[in-house]
Amino acid sequence: MLDVFVALSLLVIGSFAGTSSNNTGCLCTFGQPCWPTEDQFAELESQVSQPLIYPVPSASPCYPATDPSGNCTQVAQEWVDGSWRSSMPGSMEAPNFESFIFKNGTISACYLNTSLGASCEQGNVPVIGVDARTPQDIQAAINFALQYDLKLVVKNTGHDFLGRSAGRGAFVVWTHNMKSITYDAQFTPQGAPANETYQALTVGAGVQWYEAYATANQNGRMMVGGLSLGGSVGAGGGWLQGGGHSALSPTYGLGVDNAIEISVVTSTGAYLTVNNNQYSDLFWALRGGGGGTFGIVTSVTYRTYQQLPVVMYYVQANVTNATVMKELIGGVLRLQPNLTDEGWGGYGSFGNDSMDFFGIIPNVSTTAANISTQPLTDYLLGLEVQGVSSVAGFYAFDSWYEWYTYLWSEAGQNGVNIMFTSRLLSRDTLANRYSDVAEILYDCQASFDMIAGGKVSQIDPDSAGVNPAWRNAIVETTCGVSWQEGATAEEIAGLTDQLKVWIKDTYDLTPQDGAYFNEASLYEIDWQYTFFGSHYTKLKEIKDKYDPYRLFVVAEGVGSEDWNEELTCRC
Ligand SMILES: *[C@@H]1O[C@H](CO)[C@@H](O)[C@H](O)[C@H]1NC(C)=O
Ligand SMILES: *[C@@H]1O[C@H](CO)[C@@H](O)[C@H](O)[C@H]1NC(C)=O
Ligand SMILES: *[C@@H]1O[C@H](CO)[C@@H](O)[C@H](O)[C@H]1NC(C)=O
Ligand SMILES: *[C@@H]1O[C@H](CO)[C@@H](O)[C@H](O)[C@H]1NC(C)=O
Ligand SMILES: *[C@@H]1O[C@H](CO)[C@@H](O)[C@H](O)[C@H]1NC(C)=O
Ligand SMILES: *[C@@H]1O[C@H](CO)[C@@H](O)[C@H](O)[C@H]1NC(C)=O
Ligand SMILES: *[C@@H]1O[C@H](CO)[C@@H](O)[C@H](O)[C@H]1NC(C)=O
Ligand SMILES: *[C@@H]1O[C@H](CO)[C@@H](O)[C@H](O)[C@H]1NC(C)=O
Ligand SMILES: *[C@@H]1O[C@H](CO)[C@@H](O)[C@H](O)[C@H]1NC(C)=O
Ligand SMILES: *[C@@H]1O[C@H](CO)[C@@H](O)[C@H](O)[C@H]1NC(C)=O
Ligand SMILES: *[C@@H]1O[C@H](CO)[C@@H](O)[C@H](O)[C@H]1NC(C)=O
Repeated sequence: MLDVFVALSLLVIGSFAGTSSNNTGCLCTFGQPCWPTEDQFAELESQVSQPLIYPVPSASPCYPATDPSGNCTQVAQEWVDGSWRSSMPGSMEAPNFESFIFKNGTISACYLNTSLGASCEQGNVPVIGVDARTPQDIQAAINFALQYDLKLVVKNTGHDFLGRSAGRGAFVVWTHNMKSITYDAQFTPQGAPANETYQALTVGAGVQWYEAYATANQNGRMMVGGLSLGGSVGAGGGWLQGGGHSALSPTYGLGVDNAIEISVVTSTGAYLTVNNNQYSDLFWALRGGGGGTFGIVTSVTYRTYQQLPVVMYYVQANVTNATVMKELIGGVLRLQPNLTDEGWGGYGSFGNDSMDFFGIIPNVSTTAANISTQPLTDYLLGLEVQGVSSVAGFYAFDSWYEWYTYLWSEAGQNGVNIMFTSRLLSRDTLANRYSDVAEILYDCQASFDMIAGGKVSQIDPDSAGVNPAWRNAIVETTCGVSWQEGATAEEIAGLTDQLKVWIKDTYDLTPQDGAYFNEASLYEIDWQYTFFGSHYTKLKEIKDKYDPYRLFVVAEGVGSEDWNEELTCRC
């Protein structure tokens, strides 16, 4: 039945492929004469399972300020909650991507702070779209976008630091409600021999990590997945397609190393199940080549692992002297390769006078955990004579899931205007350039994620499309800027300039190390190499093969160099 549908939709698309451009080379956005009429949208609505959606910015219930259309108290309360934000098609996790800055400096936005006196404007939020529940819904949406040459964006949860889930005047395919989850202890990929089985979890595109983890745990399993407060990051969306890191990555590899099979709708309307046996090129590209680029993923099947106990190590240090703080940053970085190779994964941050870190390791005793972290604990104690005070300790958890629930259940972290850059610091950089890197990380008060090394380094760099720099990486560092809403375009430009300095300094120091596509800025230098390394050319070929209509384009995504800055006109 589905095959017949696919064949039909291929035919339908075939018939208007030739007319899909109006020869300006530009896509149609809301407000232009080319924008479809109400009747044309009604025709689309008749082909999909849900009413069309009309996304609005997160704060719109607070307007008009004198007589709010909704419950503004609730909006303020939920502002930082990633699950609340992802439940709305117009809400981005970082609200700056809901706003649009005109060339003349005027900002179109909808601020939570109504005292700023602005009206609520649509900004960068798409105006209409499809609440997709099935591959057929997505096929209909793709047909429609191609027929009218619309600017299309794909939004899942909206956890996105490059604004890829939004687009001014765009038509959106919203995958959040594709919530199916199935555990199969005997999963065989399509086309694989019957004896090739996995204990696997298949998640629909809209499933979020908190849901995936809970279902895995009900089956005694855990998995490599994203960690954020509230667990609202999508398990089957951009996280995976950009690489996907986890505190379990030093033990089990990246998200891309743990995906077994992916289902995807391409711009030709084809609904494909891709894996190592069929459409293996597309399977390769979807594992690290970037979200919103090759097609719309509808489900992902992951390996799972036996639920194991974990030990958490935490350490905190205060420093009184800038010179010593920089020395500490370098010293802590230098110790990371041994820790990741033993299986430790975790998250830390450097202030200008302090450091915090916590990490976990599965399936070892507290005694063993103590032995392997001793070099770090001792290193910090050794700095006591230079005015550093530190504390370290351990918590044992009966299972990884218990740790997850303890630390990550509460919502938060979102709703902040933010831009940042990342760097995947290699083994070589940490051994030889740690003190130079420390200068920059001190300056930006960096965070560091210990989510590579170990197993990540042992996997063939060419086995997945993801940036080969990951295979040399030990930690990912991030430097960022944030601001209060209401900041002027000039103030934001000033922060952007600061960010660009950090990007350039880190790039110059570590030109081979690359950055993580999902945690980066719109201003990365040589982004093709920085995000995809030597895989770029192959990724572009696969992109051209599976997206011949060039429907999918995102900022700094594969093939986006063929578009203008707004991603609305081909160069
Ligand atoms: C062609 O596209 C341009 C840019 O999107 C738009 O301004 C124009 O109205 C379109 N023309 C037609 C005939 O649809
Ligand atoms: C608005 O939301 C707040 C917080 O969730 C709640 O306490 C209050 O009852 C709501 N008000 C109305 C009128 O629904
Ligand atoms: C800036 O440009 C936008 C879009 O063209 C326009 O709506 C706005 O009025 C302009 N603002 C100023 C201050 O000129
Ligand atoms: C809201 O904006 C007003 C006016 O700029 C400012 O005084 C106030 O501190 C802001 N409130 C919050 C919560 O940011
Ligand atoms: C599956 O069966 C084939 C042929 O009998 C055998 O060569 C292969 O090793 C088996 N694979 C697994 C994973 O058991
Ligand atoms: C900071 O520490 C360094 C190294 O211990 C020392 O040389 C320097 O004098 C200290 N600076 C201050 C301001 O205490
Ligand atoms: C890492 O471990 C090896 C082997 O145990 C040891 O020789 C080396 O000194 C350690 N590196 C650091 C930086 O502590
Ligand atoms: C240290 O960081 C704090 C908070 O970011 C900042 O207010 C302070 O000025 C910084 N101090 C120095 C010496 O850079
Ligand atoms: C956990 O550790 C035990 C004891 O060292 C070992 O026998 C077992 O194989 C490990 N389990 C896994 C899943 O790694
Ligand atoms: C870790 O080992 C050291 C040295 O044996 C010991 O002093 C310390 O109490 C241990 N820490 C914990 C939390 O077990
Ligand atoms: C570091 O400073 C913070 C804030 O003053 C304090 O809460 C913490 O206990 C201190 N940690 C150490 C190890 O001294």
